[in-house]
Amino acid sequence: MASDAIVTENLTKVYGKLTAVDHVNLKVAEGTIFGLLGPNGAGKTTMIKLLTGLTDITEGEASVAGFNVRRDPMHVKQRIGWVASEVILDDDFTAWENLWLQAKLQSLPEWRDRAEDLLKYFGLLDRRKDRVKTFSTGMRKKLEIALALLHQPEVVFMDEPTIGLDANTRHMLWDLITGVNREFGITVLLTSHYIEEADALCEQISIIDHGKFVASGSPTDLKARVKSDFVELETREPVDEAKLRAIPGVTDVRTQGKTWILRVSAAEEVLPRLFATLKTDEIRRINVEKPSLETVFLDITGKRIDQPGSDVPDYRKFYAQMRRARR
Ligand SMILES: Nc1ncnc2c1ncn2[C@@H]1O[C@H](COP(=O)(O)OP(=O)(O)OP(=O)(O)O)[C@@H](O)[C@H]1O
Ligand SMILES: [Mg+2]
Repeated sequence: MASDAIVTENLTKVYGKLTAVDHVNLKVAEGTIFGLLGPNGAGKTTMIKLLTGLTDITEGEASVAGFNVRRDPMHVKQRIGWVASEVILDDDFTAWENLWLQAKLQSLPEWRDRAEDLLKYFGLLDRRKDRVKTFSTGMRKKLEIALALLHQPEVVFMDEPTIGLDANTRHMLWDLITGVNREFGITVLLTSHYIEEADALCEQISIIDHGKFVASGSPTDLKARVKSDFVELETREPVDEAKLRAIPGVTDVRTQGKTWILRVSAAEEVLPRLFATLKTDEIRRINVEKPSLETVFLDITGKRIDQPGSDVPDYRKFYAQMRRARR
């Protein structure tokens, strides 16, 4: 029977008055891809920092690759890789020099064959002698993952591996991450804002909000839990909430900015009633959502994972700023 690569018991991190990670119990089976899904500030990065030993645990226990993070941090560090959401590459070094530096930092005696295999796997072998400053954002991300795999870790943590990348590059990285898991046999824990990413990649998912796990399961299980459809509605004039609540089949009404979000039993039954209640020229926009991971999140937390106006960092800008700062 496969054992667990990551186990936590009541894992908690408190920063002053803020509980960033709140009594989390987690089990990630060896050889799987696990996704931590949550909005900005939910506690995803803090979870990774706790599990990698980058920040101290306030309360609770965690073990990774069979070792206790608090008692055996060095054993844990030898067995894990970490792909940060920030820049870690040295721009003035070539791809190969970045790998060399990583090998030095980790005192790896034999690394060249592995480095070559990784460059081959990530399609970067012919760019090995090029300075990283000439790389696209997708190529940088691939090189960052390669660096994290150089010492042959058992578990890899990836914090928002595809944030800020365009859809094509993101899909290409999904294939590579799946390959890292299947071909290299590495357990992957990744965090994401992108629901479709977690859906495509992860066998198991936990949704985290305000430091707490609010739902866990396979994408299919989670979707099956939501029995409702959601109707998102934007109107030209203000609408009386009571009017919306009174429509048969509407089980909940929430507002998010100018938008109404109605939880309904079945959209096809409720829509004609909605049109009868509101004049069609009052409706600026209407959108129906059938059960998906997005509606799971909506159902549990009452909000969208990426709220309008929420500040999802643009990593292309960030990379560009870093490059300027280093010059
Ligand atoms: N070093 C720190 N000191 C104080 N508070 C912190 C620190 N690091 C994180 N926090 C707070 O802990 C909470 C969780 O932050 P965290 O970075 O884990 O969120 P996240 O889910 O990774 O968000 P994002 O999607 O924006 O990356 C936030 O409220 C954040 O402000
Ligand atoms: Mg984060």
